[in-house]
Amino acid sequence: MNYYVLTLFPEMIENGMNTSITGRAIAGGSLSLETVNIRDYSLSGNGRIDDYPYGGGAGMVMQAEPICRAYEDLVRRLGKQPRVVYLTPQGRVFDQHMAEELAREEELIFLCGHYEGVDERVIEEIVTDQVSIGDYVLTGGELPAMVMMDAIARMVPGVLSNQESGQYESFQDGLLEYPQYSRPEEWRGKQVPPVLLSGHHGNVDRWRRDQSLLRTLKNRPELLTSVELDKKDRKFLQSLLDGGEMMNDTDVSDCTLGGGLTEEEEKFLAKLLAI
Ligand code: ADE
Repeated sequence: MNYYVLTLFPEMIENGMNTSITGRAIAGGSLSLETVNIRDYSLSGNGRIDDYPYGGGAGMVMQAEPICRAYEDLVRRLGKQPRVVYLTPQGRVFDQHMAEELAREEELIFLCGHYEGVDERVIEEIVTDQVSIGDYVLTGGELPAMVMMDAIARMVPGVLSNQESGQYESFQDGLLEYPQYSRPEEWRGKQVPPVLLSGHHGNVDRWRRDQSLLRTLKNRPELLTSVELDKKDRKFLQSLLDGGEMMNDTDVSDCTLGGGLTEEEEKFLAKLLAI
């Protein structure tokens, strides 16, 4: 995967991306990163790339021409026209599906805006995908671009080691991840759930699946409506409604997100199980 980033702050992108797992992938060649400083394409030659908005209002707008010149210079060198992702709170909201889809591209160009945004005409001219990373407003597109590049990179062959690729499975089967524990067995009076020490792989797998279901119900219930629930999943969820005496032969006291269900969660679950 080759990333190209059109930005006013190339050092921010380079410092972020050349760190940790993405940094290792760039050094190892499974990712590449090139930043293009839009300021180098300033019309006046003095580095100015923004101007006042027509119609008035606060803030400045990034002008179309420097951005377009930076883009055209890049695609001329590449000899192809990769997709261009513009980071904006007005875009489609980024998720794991979009990350998987974009990971199939060989090249991606990210356009990072600043100030009050960029002249709409350059978006019409060069942008193929407008993407938001969530319903909040940041000061620029650099952090969102890095969020996207990181999530996409995880799906590029060679970026994660075998050990790493098994981690952080949240969303990959539509559920949130189960809790993890490491040594010691007891920490500040808190015990590791006994089932994890039992050595019984079947019970461990079931406990983890149950915990994923429970976490998803508690934190992101809407995700459960798109998950395929098998007989054992349903039995576990039903046991929560019935007071949680036994959950697939696992005592409810092993449940880390205890405290029972709220009325709202019970209503949601009853409806889900009725389907
Ligand atoms: N630029 C500013 N805020 C943003 C957001 N939430 N997502 C993508 N780009 C942005």
